[in-house]
Amino acid sequence: MPGVRIGVLTGGGDCPGLNAVIRAIVRRGIDTHQHEIVGFRDGWRGPLEGEHEPLTVESTRGILPRGGTILRSSRTNPFKRDDGPDAIRSTLESLGVDGLIAIGGEDTLGAAARLHGEHGLPIIGVPKTIDNDLAGTDMTFGFDTAVQIATEAIDRLHTTAESHNRVMIVEVMGRHAGWIALHAGLAGGADVILIPERPFDIEEVCRLIERRTSRGRYFSIVVVAEGAVPREGTMETVEGREDEFGHVRLGGIGQRLESEIEERTGYETRTTVLGHIQRGGTPTAFDRVLATRFGLAAIDAAHDGRWGQMPALRGTAIELAPLADAVRELKTVPPEYYAQFDALLG
Ligand code: F6P
Repeated sequence: MPGVRIGVLTGGGDCPGLNAVIRAIVRRGIDTHQHEIVGFRDGWRGPLEGEHEPLTVESTRGILPRGGTILRSSRTNPFKRDDGPDAIRSTLESLGVDGLIAIGGEDTLGAAARLHGEHGLPIIGVPKTIDNDLAGTDMTFGFDTAVQIATEAIDRLHTTAESHNRVMIVEVMGRHAGWIALHAGLAGGADVILIPERPFDIEEVCRLIERRTSRGRYFSIVVVAEGAVPREGTMETVEGREDEFGHVRLGGIGQRLESEIEERTGYETRTTVLGHIQRGGTPTAFDRVLATRFGLAAIDAAHDGRWGQMPALRGTAIELAPLADAVRELKTVPPEYYAQFDALLG
């Protein structure tokens, strides 16, 4: 394809590595393919409302190690407006943009898959999320950084938990999938790891803590994913409000656990909610490299007109995967994967 204009947007929750993708797209797009790159602001709001800026090698210098996204992000759902797909088409036409690269998670890529599949818009996806729950790719960038941050937090909580004989609860992100909780919990040597895929039994949690005490360990670390749920009817939970994609704002399971554990065991229990700290700041080297490889593959795919695809990590290789397959279902933690670590808990 001779020099054309390619748009880029970042949608949904931000994550470390987004800028590395943008930088790779811009450098390869301009220097190798002689394309012009247009950045759309605030996720899908950019192409819906025509908010854009030119991206050049100069304007994207120095962004590789920076967290967040220079394009900013939003949870705008283009299908919340009847004219959403048409508005995007008309923005692309009026700006002479020949194709769009949408960097996002399940919602952003879900919208991208529909805009391509149902409305024929030329879109390539790039999979991102700290949650690591996108199917079609072995890993998303942002996950490694989030796990690293959560592990460091667990290490720090360990020493203070031990000094005070406390139960320390660490609430990490993970709406539908417990990848962050499981990997950070394992890396940090947590005693209890609770994930959304496996509803927990509060009695069993307390039993593990009591067992540690009987073995002479007077502190415990409990890692809980924000989306973890108790077995039906065993504990009360609280519902939050919804975003444009119908997701409830999570948070609060750590506090609920704190009162239950303290009440049932009598041990002093404290909660730390890591929240957006897991999404902020500089990406790890692994995430910078993965994000860069995704960016290069995405602009090459756009150059070749491979619309409706996204780069995916398969083993150590980057391949293209159909967007529709990647958003069909979430990649949650398989029960047998979690179960292999059972002996390490408590
Ligand atoms: O999807 C990534 C994620 O960080 C989830 O883990 C979390 O539930 C959600 O985004 C939080 O979103 P927001 O930043 O909109 O509160």
